[in-house]
Amino acid sequence: MRRAHTILGLESSCDDTAAAIVRQSDKGTQVLASVVRSQEKLHAAYGGVVPEIAARAHAEVLDLCIEEALQRADVILADVDGIAVTAGPGLIGGVVSGVMCAKGLALATGKPLFGVNHLAGHALTPRLTDQVAYPYLMLLVSGGHCQFLLVKGTDDFVRLGGTIDDAPGEAFDKVARLLGLPQPGGPAVEAAAQQGDPARFALPRPLLDRAGCDMSFSGLKTAVLRTRDSLVGAQGGLHLQDQRDICAGFQAAVAEVLAEKARRALHLYLELEPQHKTFCVAGGVAANMSIRSALETVSEQCGVGFIAPPLALCTDNAAMIAYVALERAAQFPADGLDLSARPRWPLDRVSPALLGSGKKGAKA
Ligand code: KG4
Ligand code: ZN
Repeated sequence: MRRAHTILGLESSCDDTAAAIVRQSDKGTQVLASVVRSQEKLHAAYGGVVPEIAARAHAEVLDLCIEEALQRADVILADVDGIAVTAGPGLIGGVVSGVMCAKGLALATGKPLFGVNHLAGHALTPRLTDQVAYPYLMLLVSGGHCQFLLVKGTDDFVRLGGTIDDAPGEAFDKVARLLGLPQPGGPAVEAAAQQGDPARFALPRPLLDRAGCDMSFSGLKTAVLRTRDSLVGAQGGLHLQDQRDICAGFQAAVAEVLAEKARRALHLYLELEPQHKTFCVAGGVAANMSIRSALETVSEQCGVGFIAPPLALCTDNAAMIAYVALERAAQFPADGLDLSARPRWPLDRVSPALLGSGKKGAKA
């Protein structure tokens, strides 16, 4: 019988502090515990993530999250075979908090240390949840990221396209702020959109006229601002129905852009890998039902299977970080204590870097 391999994972690259225990054994891969503490309340008054507050809060609760994960998984540190930590990309203060915590644990226990790319965590999640075989196409769409990735192996990614400015979740959050809706904006905008008319306001579909899979969402956000301001100028304020119609128009525009760019990415994928057919999404925006169903429809039309992992593993968590270390441990050496925290860390080392700066700081 193969010996079970158990990894403790840590994640602190944005505004969630997380610890998880993931075990690989004859029974397959199991998430024994996944603890996530959100910092949402700490940042609410500032309308965005404040890096300094985030870093301090991560440092304060990381050890508590680890203790809780160990308890819930019913294991002790001595049972763990390795320590995995997000070493980038992200807000550097938070990443440093996690890396220092992981180094301390590795030094004290003598266990191997794995510095994991946060984006690789999201990108490999469909293998943790659905045992998806390489190579597959992934759309990572959240508050901090938006990219199409051809996932070919544990450390082998090709970026087919991505946003050149805002990530869609960031745009949902900004639109919510413009319309006086609560944060995080995505769920609030989706709820309002359900009772809105998507055709009332003609909002742009940025970059649809440009070939390829790159995307842009900041112009759409500006168009929402102008629509709001012209209504306020004409009527002296916004009616509830105006708010709903703007939300519906904005959501329809994002869904249409993502669906069309996904169609192009799927064609590229099928050209490059004709024998493999899986399209996966991950990230908070994948929770949006109209976006998810638009992506699923395109996938069906292209004859490609569609997989969206459960939401708790789609959004930021540490189980995905532990899982990457499980795959890496079987193929590559562990990192040394000289592991450094990286604010930028593109998965695809060949494609040119993207412009812009998102919720997580500089775009990867
Ligand atoms: O993956 P995530 O938890 O964190 C990172 O950004 O890494 O994603 C959070 C983002 C937020 O911007 C939030 O507004 C958006 O995902 N989001 C949604 C929905 N639920 C969360 N966007 C659109 N529709 C939703 N239902
Ligand atoms: Zn993330």
